[in-house]
Amino acid sequence: MSSPETVKVVLLGEAGVGKTCIISRYITGAFNPDTISSLSAQFISKTMEFKDINKTIKFDIWDTAGQERFRALAKIFYKDAKVICLCYDMTSKKTFDALKDFWYEQQTKLNVDGDPIYAIVACKNDLYENMQTSDEEGREFAKSINGIFQSTSAKSNAGIDTLFENIGHRYFDPHFDTNEKDSKEKEEYAKKKTEKAQKKTQPQSVSRGVKLDANKSSNKEKQKKGCC
Ligand code: GTP
Repeated sequence: MSSPETVKVVLLGEAGVGKTCIISRYITGAFNPDTISSLSAQFISKTMEFKDINKTIKFDIWDTAGQERFRALAKIFYKDAKVICLCYDMTSKKTFDALKDFWYEQQTKLNVDGDPIYAIVACKNDLYENMQTSDEEGREFAKSINGIFQSTSAKSNAGIDTLFENIGHRYFDPHFDTNEKDSKEKEEYAKKKTEKAQKKTQPQSVSRGVKLDANKSSNKEKQKKGCC
């Protein structure tokens, strides 16, 4: 495996959307629901291997404070970021709107150096019953800024590793299309689901067929015998 490349990733977004929990899930593998609101910024590192392309990345992941009073500070941390994760809570439309209008338009787009990879991250997808923004909206926004989209839940661990896998692939290959990967995955999943359903229904229909035939023949026999 090649020696690791260090990639600075910064998570931004409104207070309480779930940034700290995503990082903590990715690093420790556990969900810690009792986070306290971040007061500044801190970073933690994790090395990830991409065996299929023989590459390694050391992610330096920066957690920033979403609260308004700390916003001026955040600029210092994301200026030289290679990857910017714009996070929103999918149960709160206003956090999604703030992402587009404030965190992207007024902040990162104007202040960041270079051409970072943007990841639009929908958080808390375990609470889909209270959903106020659809994945399509998130995906559309990501597409409009040539970013990647990932729906996640730090609670259920959905999409967290995939988020960093996709970031890594995009880092090594700017043309890496997560939407294409998504649709391939969806196709595979649909195929597997159909195969599974077919396997499930086949024995049932056979046994039903046998039953019906058995009834039919016994009815015929009964008719032959002149019975009822
Ligand atoms: P700031 O540090 O204030 O910017 O907030 P943050 O974006 O880092 O949010 P944080 O990770 O601290 O999470 C805020 C609250 O949301 C906490 O009470 C978490 O328990 C809860 N939370 C975070 N992620 C999830 C999730 O995936 N599902 C559910 N149900 N709750 C979550």
